[in-house]
Amino acid sequence: MIAKPIAIAADHGGVDLKSSIVALLQGQGYEVQDLGTDGSASVDYPDYAYSVAHAIKSGKADHGILICGSGIGMSIAANRYPEIRAALVHDRLSAELCRQHNNANVLCLGARLLGEATALDCVKAFVTTEFEGGRHQGRIDKLSNPK
Ligand code: RB5
Repeated sequence: MIAKPIAIAADHGGVDLKSSIVALLQGQGYEVQDLGTDGSASVDYPDYAYSVAHAIKSGKADHGILICGSGIGMSIAANRYPEIRAALVHDRLSAELCRQHNNANVLCLGARLLGEATALDCVKAFVTTEFEGGRHQGRIDKLSNPK
């Protein structure tokens, strides 16, 4: 189980799903840092990706969750930060694999593409699946040292 707070943020396309995820995680005993947005007003997803990336970079959270309409903008934005390995997933298996093989520290979800039950299933898998290490560690090290 993830120990430090989980940082979560969404743009206007993901705000309803964010509420459901916060309720799920808090109900399971996780500490959640909700970094917005909180309403339906149009906002820019890079600002919210930055908030979660900064929470991880500063040590306030080990993991994060980002939600926008497709999940694509959030994943592109989050992966611009060297400390972040953000994975856009669409089902439980991809959520498990991003932890097992990629040690993803940010989960990205597309609220307009996933049903709520599937999205919550992805979250449950993400927060309970451990990185396998071993041969995968060297590959992750290469991400920080591109040729
Ligand atoms: C907002 O309309 C939408 O573009 C955003 O939520 C996201 O899907 C971008 O990738």
